[in-house]
Amino acid sequence: MLTSGPERQGAWLLLHSLLLLAAWETGSSQVHYSVPEEAKHGSFVGRIAQDLGLELAELVPRLFRVASKGRGGLLEVNLQNGILFVNSRIDREELCGRSVECSIHLEVIVDRPLQVFHVEVEIKDINDNPPVFPATHKNLFISETRPLDSHFSLEGASDADIGANALLTYRLSPNEYFSLEVPTNDEQVTPLELVLKKPLDREVTSELLLVLKATDGGKPELTGTVELNITVLDVNDNAPVFDKTVYRIKLLENARNGTLVIRLNASDLDEGSNGHILYSFATDVSSNTEASFRIDSNSGEIKVNGKIDFEEIKLWKLQIEAVDKGNPPMFGHCTILIEVLDINDNAPELLVTSLLLSIPEDAPPGTVIALISVTDHDAGGNARVTCSLTPQVPFKLVSTFKNYYSLVLDSALDREKVSEYALVLIARDGGSPSLSTMASVSVEVADVNDNAPAFAQPEYTVFVKENNPPGCHIFTVSARDADALENALVSRWGAGLTRSRGGSGCALGRGRPRQISWPSALVSLQVRILEILETNRNFARM
Ligand SMILES: *[C@@H]1O[C@H](CO)[C@@H](O)[C@H](O)[C@H]1NC(C)=O
Ligand SMILES: *[C@@H]1O[C@H](CO)[C@@H](O)[C@H](O)[C@H]1NC(C)=O
Ligand SMILES: *[C@@H]1O[C@H](CO)[C@@H](O)[C@H](O)[C@H]1NC(C)=O
Repeated sequence: MLTSGPERQGAWLLLHSLLLLAAWETGSSQVHYSVPEEAKHGSFVGRIAQDLGLELAELVPRLFRVASKGRGGLLEVNLQNGILFVNSRIDREELCGRSVECSIHLEVIVDRPLQVFHVEVEIKDINDNPPVFPATHKNLFISETRPLDSHFSLEGASDADIGANALLTYRLSPNEYFSLEVPTNDEQVTPLELVLKKPLDREVTSELLLVLKATDGGKPELTGTVELNITVLDVNDNAPVFDKTVYRIKLLENARNGTLVIRLNASDLDEGSNGHILYSFATDVSSNTEASFRIDSNSGEIKVNGKIDFEEIKLWKLQIEAVDKGNPPMFGHCTILIEVLDINDNAPELLVTSLLLSIPEDAPPGTVIALISVTDHDAGGNARVTCSLTPQVPFKLVSTFKNYYSLVLDSALDREKVSEYALVLIARDGGSPSLSTMASVSVEVADVNDNAPAFAQPEYTVFVKENNPPGCHIFTVSARDADALENALVSRWGAGLTRSRGGSGCALGRGRPRQISWPSALVSLQVRILEILETNRNFARM
């Protein structure tokens, strides 16, 4: 159905166009150009007028124009010379994304007669996009116990380019622990894998910084990197360790309660609670040890807790255990040898064994009177005892053996001069200050009948009245004997008094019979019968 007026004209035009299109499609082929993306403004694309068979002169009169759906302005035609050129920046990735084909379709239209030409301008990829990782930094946490050959996946990079320009190869920075595995896969974003090829040890390497680099196949190539921060997680695989297995300490005896003996310091290479150490005496500690020492479980300080007596224990052996707070815990051990140093806190002791309660005054020098032994519980010089005796006595100390002495007679005794000696023995040790002990020994000198009785005068003259009846007391003579007891008992006898003008008496000491001879003394006694008495009588008569 044909209509007239504008409608009819429109219909004609449509028909005309269709005819034209048919003629064009049959008579001419599309023109193809290609231009690399990112070409500079003004870059030559093609002699479009010439290639479409148009005269330069007719371009303007025939209203030559180029249309491009949504992409206007990227390409432009110079109407003077009929050249298609790049008008503004063309980014292939922006236009076509990741599709392999990318072209701009141009519709070239001229009027009088109306002609429409189709031109394809292929936008060629250039390597203008580097590989890009999802992040520039990636943290990985890997336990130090992970077995060899464990795989850890990583996201690969992507490259907006196509073809070789997007063909990525990966390189991991050189390191001894990990290698990189790139599974063959068509996907653009490849899951990569780190493979553990050497056991991790947090105590050796707690943190690894690796760089993963992706390189595309463009010319020149572009690269992208991601920094891998691998934190090695601790497990309790290290026991506490003391820097010595045996510590030797010297400690003065009598050290005050609280005196620091040693501050232990074990180390544990693990971290956190795995490396937190608690100290204690080993489980088989003796109650003795616990009474004398205490240990601070946190600081590792061992202090004196009770009396430290050298005379009781000279060497302490403490077994110490260190345990970490890991799960399960790990243990370390050490031994502490504490040598107790003596201080002079013991005076010497003297033991005197008397052999003789009394010594006869005629005992020969060398006679042993007493045995003496000295002891000192300290050690060394503190126990080196010297013994001395009161000076100026006829006795001396003779050392018979180390710390054994004899008290012996040194010179002659005379009971009649000194009958008893109070001897003082002093034992003094070599400590500083030194301590001493005294003991007294009394030695009695026993009498020997070595003194004759002695009369006070060798001669007495006694005056006696005449006519005394027999038995009448005339006079007493007395003799003295320096000896003691029975050795000093004096007996007297002699010639009876006679009327003779002279006489003699005898006094005898009655010593023990076994004495060789009884010491005796003689005295002469002269008795005078007084005429004076006569005189007296006569006088009485008067
Ligand atoms: C690596 O990661 C750890 C844990 O997140 C962090 O403490 C450390 O500072 C990081 N190192 C670097 C170099 O970024
Ligand atoms: C323990 O030893 C470590 C290393 O030897 C040292 O850094 C630390 O200060 C010591 N601690 C004490 C309490 O002595
Ligand atoms: C030593 O001191 C500690 C702490 O002050 C105390 O517990 C302990 O009983 C004391 N030991 C003696 C023997 O006094």
